[in-house]
Amino acid sequence: MGNNLLKGKKGIIFGALNDMSIAWKVAERCVEEGAIVTLSNTPLAIRMGTTEELAQKLNAKLIPADATNVEDLEKVVDESMEFFGGKFDFVLHSIGMSPNVRKKRPYDNLDYGLLNQTLDISAISFHKILQICKAKDAINDWGSVIALSYGAAQRTMFGYNDMADAKAMLESIARSFGYIYGREKHVRINTISQSPTVTTAGSGIKGFDSLVDFSERMSPLGNATAEECADYCVVMFSDLTKKVTMQNLYHDGGYSSMGMSFRAMEQYIKSFDDLTDEQGNIIYG
Ligand SMILES: NC(=O)c1ccc[n+]([C@@H]2O[C@H](COP(=O)([O-])OP(=O)(O)OC[C@H]3O[C@@H](n4cnc5c(N)ncnc54)[C@H](O)[C@@H]3O)[C@@H](O)[C@H]2O)c1
Repeated sequence: MGNNLLKGKKGIIFGALNDMSIAWKVAERCVEEGAIVTLSNTPLAIRMGTTEELAQKLNAKLIPADATNVEDLEKVVDESMEFFGGKFDFVLHSIGMSPNVRKKRPYDNLDYGLLNQTLDISAISFHKILQICKAKDAINDWGSVIALSYGAAQRTMFGYNDMADAKAMLESIARSFGYIYGREKHVRINTISQSPTVTTAGSGIKGFDSLVDFSERMSPLGNATAEECADYCVVMFSDLTKKVTMQNLYHDGGYSSMGMSFRAMEQYIKSFDDLTDEQGNIIYG
């Protein structure tokens, strides 16, 4: 049940692949709250995934685009404005992919051509979207733009690889562009740093199940789900958060502020049990 938080608002949602995608949940929640949306994803993702089904369900226009391609993105903005009959109010960037992770290249043996692709797809595409929207003056005053990030931008996480660098860049773009777009057009730009969430992109990370389990146990409120992330996006797109900009907003059940929990400490101590001799003396390796 919606509360009309986005009544009369219009927005573009990038990155809904299937019903596990965070962008899928965001699109559903935005429409439930009274918004009209357009959707975009790559032609390949549209063929392989179920984005068309979502577009039908939400009466949304689906516009294929590779987010690294400026002409494609210009088309998304132009066709969205045509569909909306004018400017729009919000944008979700929910795009991430690392060809190095896909090809199992470890961080100390990266392919630099693939690193460029990781950064282009996962971070620079955000700048491209913002630059095009600003040049076309496509976003209404007091509009809101969100990109999805992850805590590996600040703290090293096993297996996250070059995506950590992409997320650090993504968050920096939100600050740098947030200054300019805020000053000139009152458009706010933020990143939401989401808990590990079981989706197609998430599951590509090495040791992902253990990561989900660890952060679930470490967070006082538990991991934030994709549905809860959608709720947070709705609030950030609404008029209730007009002065929040250039922030990286943690949506992780408290995980990012934790150092050591009681349960984790107990588990850590237990792990040394078998490292004592019969007299209970610690065996140093
Ligand atoms: N799943 C998690 O654990 C988690 C946690 C924090 C942040 N995030 C971020 O959330 C966002 C959405 O990911 P998700 O977990 O919903 O997975 P997902 O696989 O459903 O979404 C990723 C999307 O990126 C799209 N994409 C890839 N290359 C593209 C390109 N060149 N042009 C346009 N789109 C392209 C894919 O088609 C897909 O729709 C990503 O930025 C991801 O890094 C995910």
